[in-house]
Amino acid sequence: MRKVGLLTSGGDCQALNAAMRGVVKGLSNNLDGLEVYGFYEGYKGLIYGKYRLLTSSDFSGILTKGGTILGSSRQPFKLMRQPDENGLDKVEAMKHNYYKLNLDCLVILGGNGTQKTANLLREEGLNIIHLPKTIDNDIYGTDVTFGFQSAINIAADAIDCIHTTAASHNRVFIVEVMGHKVGWLTLYAGIAAGADIILIPEIPYDIDKIAEAIHKRTKAGKGFTVLAVAEGAISKKDAKLSKKEYQKKLEKSPYPSVSYEVAAQIEKKLGVDTRVTVPGHTQRGGSPCPYDRALCSRLGAAAAEAIIEGDYGNMIAMKGNKTVRVPLGKVAGKLKMVDKDAPIVKEAKFMGISFGD
Ligand code: F6P
Repeated sequence: MRKVGLLTSGGDCQALNAAMRGVVKGLSNNLDGLEVYGFYEGYKGLIYGKYRLLTSSDFSGILTKGGTILGSSRQPFKLMRQPDENGLDKVEAMKHNYYKLNLDCLVILGGNGTQKTANLLREEGLNIIHLPKTIDNDIYGTDVTFGFQSAINIAADAIDCIHTTAASHNRVFIVEVMGHKVGWLTLYAGIAAGADIILIPEIPYDIDKIAEAIHKRTKAGKGFTVLAVAEGAISKKDAKLSKKEYQKKLEKSPYPSVSYEVAAQIEKKLGVDTRVTVPGHTQRGGSPCPYDRALCSRLGAAAAEAIIEGDYGNMIAMKGNKTVRVPLGKVAGKLKMVDKDAPIVKEAKFMGISFGD
């Protein structure tokens, strides 16, 4: 008999259900005895003992279903070692529930923060497998994360829609794309949807260069310009500030996000109508795209294989189109950022896309 726990933690994304289905299909197809326990709302369920024994019917018909059948929540890593409001030791509580159920392992689906806690639980002696989930694609040690492709499709659709209206009105349009501190999603969606200017955190922008790029288009007879701006984009000036100083600046800023600041600066400099669209959480919603469904099925199957072999303590990653096991201790706490000199950036620039640098 194999007893496996599952939890989905952090911000959700489109292919969490597909990944859990992949794990369970891989296990049930190759093991005789299997019990799967699902913890509700991520680490919260593991801390407070909120779980349910799942059956095969729970995994039926969920390949194409967005969200997560288990629910999710953000439980910051930095607070894990701090007792909750009732003095409960969260790490001890998680270990207690794991041992109470006599689990062979815990499969944890989540992003960077989730991965750090997964590694902490590994260090505490639990058998852990991590699956790399996030639309941000910022998990170190894997070529790609699941949710990323689905989010690209949505962000690119948003930019596509903006293109037609931008052209009718001779305006500048900004589409603000998610991605937290990295620019992967903006970079791919921006290129895919033909954005003229792409701003990402890894390449700080200069507003004068943005104005120049817009002016160049106007001179070439193009009445409109579309910018894809990462929510974490930062100006060259702000990039020089310390983390604390930048935080203070944001707190005092009259703008809800960087895109609105860029829009105001463009209007002031060039006197052109500039509009901002923020697709926000739509980028994490809806059905996973077929690529993500296939990716999650592969990662899930590879996780099941590792469980059957009793090989724990790893993230199941994609490297060069192969599933691989990457030790959690080697990757937890690291961020995968866009290299400003990466071929994709060079190619985009070669086509005339401005990065405002
Ligand atoms: O990590 C996924 C993500 O969607 C980021 O792109 C974004 O910055 C963040 O989560 C939003 O978090 P929340 O859903 O807590 O508002």
